[in-house]
Amino acid sequence: MRARKIIIDTDPGQDDAVAILLALGSPQDIDLLGITTVAGNVPLALTQKNARIVCEVAERRDVKVHAGCAAPLERALVTAEHVHGRTGLDGPELFEPTMALAEQNGVDFIIESLRQEAPGTVTLCPLGPLTNIAAAFRKAPDIIGRVQEIVLMGGAYFEVGNITPAAEFNIYVDPEAAREVLGCGVAVTMMPLDVTHKALATPARVAAFRDLGTRVGSFTADMLEFFERFDVEKYGSEGGPLHDPCVIAYLIRPELFSGRHVNVEVETASELTLGMTVADWWGVTDRSPNAMFIGDVEADGFFALLTERLGRL
Ligand code: BDR
Ligand code: CA
Repeated sequence: MRARKIIIDTDPGQDDAVAILLALGSPQDIDLLGITTVAGNVPLALTQKNARIVCEVAERRDVKVHAGCAAPLERALVTAEHVHGRTGLDGPELFEPTMALAEQNGVDFIIESLRQEAPGTVTLCPLGPLTNIAAAFRKAPDIIGRVQEIVLMGGAYFEVGNITPAAEFNIYVDPEAAREVLGCGVAVTMMPLDVTHKALATPARVAAFRDLGTRVGSFTADMLEFFERFDVEKYGSEGGPLHDPCVIAYLIRPELFSGRHVNVEVETASELTLGMTVADWWGVTDRSPNAMFIGDVEADGFFALLTERLGRL
């Protein structure tokens, strides 16, 4: 089978970083056209820099990293330094990347790539707020019908929320963008907290990354040892959830995941429940299904895949 063409849209973020590494370690499955960065976990100046740091750790200075939107479509930016640290990538020793940021804006890169590649051959993989994707669709509606699929990390139903009691971070930061993406008619697969909270980086799994004995292995372990603190304290879980790598793992081994094709709507009006993803998991409305909402992952298989692929870098 030919490698699937993807664009990773991201706000690194330690878990975003692991997702990028998984893609870079899987060239037979994933043809990474480029990385677009967005403001989210930390401001854009840091997310674009962090994406370049991750590429350099993997010795992939050839990857195109673009900066996209610095703020949500219609709101002020909310960030998550309390989870990811001041840099967004706290944990390992960081450095100034030497690879240049691509000149083209990330939104324009998404538009140009979708126009250049054959229709139905490019998958968008948003790992942060959906601002860049919605901005690209607003600016160039002709590209919407050319997208193969959108596989994103965002939302929650049974786990409800992490940034507020009702909302998951990526959707909460730019709910208008999320609503537009979910309503655009493209096939969407969502990795909500319901599944990502089952992909826990336990001490044994983090040790397996360190035991790779490579720079990528120790960088990953250092990131995850920092990243787990917040969720371990908050949820009393055994390790931090590897949210964003679920997106890339799904493209490589979809059989590890299961879910339901349901209707998902985003709350954009209520102050109390802003950004909530109302998933009709039980089919109690007649609203049309618009997303494959993933609920479960075979976690050991997921971590085996991650460790093996990061081990190739
Ligand atoms: C999502 O928010 C960010 O903190 C993570 O990188 C992930 O994309 C989880 O809610
Ligand atoms: Ca992210």
